[in-house]
Amino acid sequence: MSETAELKLPDGQVVQLPVVEGSAGERAIDIANLRAESKYITLDPGFGNTGSCLSSITFIDGDNGVLLYRGIPIEELCAHSSFLETSFLLINGRLPKKAELESFESEITRHTMLYEDVKNFYDGFPRDAHPMAILASVVCSLSSFYQDEQGSPGEVSYLNSIRLMAKLPTIAAWAYKRSVGQPFMYPSNNLRYCENFLYMMFGLPVEEYEPDPAVVEALDTLLILHADHEQNCSTSTVRLVRSSMTNMFACIASGICALWGSRHGGANQEVIEMLEQIQEDGGNVKKFVEMAKDRDSGFRLMGFGHRVYKNFDPRAKIIKAKCDKVLERLKVADPLLDIAKELEEAALNDDYFKEKKLYPNVDFYSGIIYKAMGIPTNAFTVMFALGRLPGWIAHAKEYTEEPKNRIGRPRQIYTGPESAHWLPFDQR
Ligand code: CMC
Repeated sequence: MSETAELKLPDGQVVQLPVVEGSAGERAIDIANLRAESKYITLDPGFGNTGSCLSSITFIDGDNGVLLYRGIPIEELCAHSSFLETSFLLINGRLPKKAELESFESEITRHTMLYEDVKNFYDGFPRDAHPMAILASVVCSLSSFYQDEQGSPGEVSYLNSIRLMAKLPTIAAWAYKRSVGQPFMYPSNNLRYCENFLYMMFGLPVEEYEPDPAVVEALDTLLILHADHEQNCSTSTVRLVRSSMTNMFACIASGICALWGSRHGGANQEVIEMLEQIQEDGGNVKKFVEMAKDRDSGFRLMGFGHRVYKNFDPRAKIIKAKCDKVLERLKVADPLLDIAKELEEAALNDDYFKEKKLYPNVDFYSGIIYKAMGIPTNAFTVMFALGRLPGWIAHAKEYTEEPKNRIGRPRQIYTGPESAHWLPFDQR
């Protein structure tokens, strides 16, 4: 018989709960039948101690700073793989053969255009609209163009996954073009994924544009680093929305919305804004570290801390090294990088940050590279979304293919009035 845990309840009842073990030795107590057997539910606001699924996509060892996609260390993927190869790996569960990768890349290249009518949507957004609002809206609108193959039980449409991967960079670049009042650039089938994105962002119809290979390489690495991170807020959102059998475009739009917030992907924008604030204030990093320690200040060091990593975020290490390289290559001397390094050192040597195990996360240095690339600050989270897309697709696919999947529907402990009655206005 498999291992069980025993739970003794206040009424003396003892419930046997199965123990589940993952491939890396992580252990869980399966409480799925607890309520049926005992009337008790578990309570875990923020889901800090709740496993929502079994998943074979990504592994994180937060105590040792390890991140694996389908078992492969993130460092190896950044050194040898490309974003599209990594996307194939995440979505299909294995590295592609050469011909498979070529065909994946070519299919994505040939689906980069948007329906011409989609262009008109952009006219309806205010010029200063946040690009994440545009990204989520336009992605959701694709569900009205691709009404076929939606919500088919048991699978995620391969074609819709290709469409999403192919069209997200176009949608993102056009959001930028709209904000600066420049003509939209159509994708070019001669260019590879990251080159094409940079071309649509920064190219103009009146002149030749050739993306800098160093920028292309750095962008590819950043997208790999963002590609998946197991059950984070946006991925859990995608899985939950998918669990009601919603179509994939709407699921991904929901992931984009969840990513937007400052505690999640929105932190990369806020890191740069924080560094600028420190710069304007005279560069006194210690003052900001002190402020972050004071709960009443409402201020946190953006780009610091993580729910899972209680050690260096391995992505932050890679980005920091890349950051130095890209800035040197582009001959950008950004004083914000010096402030970031000073701030990092001050925080890492501070007892509060040491005790709470708060280390720089993926967002701490990524903004500085994006800034050097010319990406506007409010579009940093869009870059994160471009990277996270294959992870969202992989999780929606894994969820959909799980034969025993059920709609996600957490329970609650009700704390409102036990009984109340409607009253007319003069008695309220
Ligand atoms: N600055 C100052 N104090 C912090 C910070 C920070 N950045 N992060 C956490 N703390 C404190 C927090 O006040 C709490 O203190 P106490 O124990 O006294 O209540 C303790 O550390 C634990 O924090 P928490 O908020 O309970 O931890 P969490 O796991 O719920 O939140 C987090 C994780 C990432 C939301 C949080 O660390 C944070 O707000 N960081 C800044 C925003 C950020 O950089 N987000 C990007 C995360 S990585 C990329 C991504 O997921 O998108």
